[in-house]
Amino acid sequence: MRTIEQFNFSQKKAIIRVDFNVPIDNNKVTDTSRIKAAIKTIDKVCDDGGSCILVSHLGRPKGFQEEFSMTHIINEVEQVLKRKVILSKDVIGEDAKEKSNNLKPGQVLLLENVRFHKEETLGGFEFAKELSLMADCYINDAFGTAHRAHASTTIISSFFKDKFFGKCLEREVNSIKKVLKSGEKPILAILGGAKISSKIPILKNIIKIADNIIIGGGMAFTFAKAMGGKIGDSIHEDAMLDLANEIVEESKIRGTQLHLPIDVVCAKEFDNNSVQKTFDIMKIDNGFQGMDAGPKSIQKFKEIVMSSKTILWNGPLGVFEFSNFSTGTKMLGEFISNSTKNGAFSLVGGGDSVAAVKMFKIEKNMSYVSTGGGAMLESLEGKNLPGISALLN
Ligand code: 3PG
Ligand code: MG
Repeated sequence: MRTIEQFNFSQKKAIIRVDFNVPIDNNKVTDTSRIKAAIKTIDKVCDDGGSCILVSHLGRPKGFQEEFSMTHIINEVEQVLKRKVILSKDVIGEDAKEKSNNLKPGQVLLLENVRFHKEETLGGFEFAKELSLMADCYINDAFGTAHRAHASTTIISSFFKDKFFGKCLEREVNSIKKVLKSGEKPILAILGGAKISSKIPILKNIIKIADNIIIGGGMAFTFAKAMGGKIGDSIHEDAMLDLANEIVEESKIRGTQLHLPIDVVCAKEFDNNSVQKTFDIMKIDNGFQGMDAGPKSIQKFKEIVMSSKTILWNGPLGVFEFSNFSTGTKMLGEFISNSTKNGAFSLVGGGDSVAAVKMFKIEKNMSYVSTGGGAMLESLEGKNLPGISALLN
């Protein structure tokens, strides 16, 4: 892995692929994590006396669409980076070429949304070449987009001799390695969220590595039903029952302990203010649906979390967006915080659990919170991501 620490960027222009695909609500950026994640890389290049040409996508535009223009995030980018950032009106057009040509050491240029060109997602060779001509070297720091074989994430790499892992990408890759390849035992994976179908590939990979797997959230009910439990009106996937049984069998063969919740807090309606009742997960009355882990489950999960040395958390234990059903997820976050303080390595990845740690303000207590959604899921499935492979070639 070639990192930016191994290079002096003095007098060099670096194209840095960042993932500034940030959520925007009412013209306001609601989460700046992905911009923050790029600070160290940009600072290193500028401090060396180099200049940065930042390339990112924003959303999924079909050709040029004003609402996806970088003009909507430029102020936020400048504030977070604490730097003046020049914005070009196009990606490989006159304006981008002129502004990149005139770039002085220490300056930062942000190109317009790279997905305004369909060649980006198509992985266009000529388009990637045009982009590459603006710079002397290439840094990929866009972990969130590393699972896409796009022009600016993957194809462009082949045009550079000097290509590097940015600081964010390096940390993401090392954190995943620390869980999947060199995790200190006992290794715990907590998989939650509504659908088991979307987590099956991860389960199949993780089962080979983990000592313990906690299955929480909506997923747990498909397992409970497969084991012959009565799950009332809880969310589940009948098409996945056989697969759930297969996973239970495989875990026995491999000696991986699968842990389901013991009890669950249920509701009559999918509503924060619904009537609540706690049931054994195998004996839920009709008319009730599971919404959160119950007290016995929380106690059991605490013991497992506290005795683990490596913890991967992907997916919440309940409907944590509803305050009355957030206890399980919130407590789990606290246990992971404490276990991390005691020396465990904790990685949080995947949209909803990342949202949960942010909501409960425990982000800083985790060893690492990923910036990637799909890219993190594919990594946990054991896949090689094209954006990363391209840097290694
Ligand atoms: C993301 O937010 O998932 C990344 O920025 C990648 O975006 P995409 O899913 O539109 O490729
Ligand atoms: Mg995505």
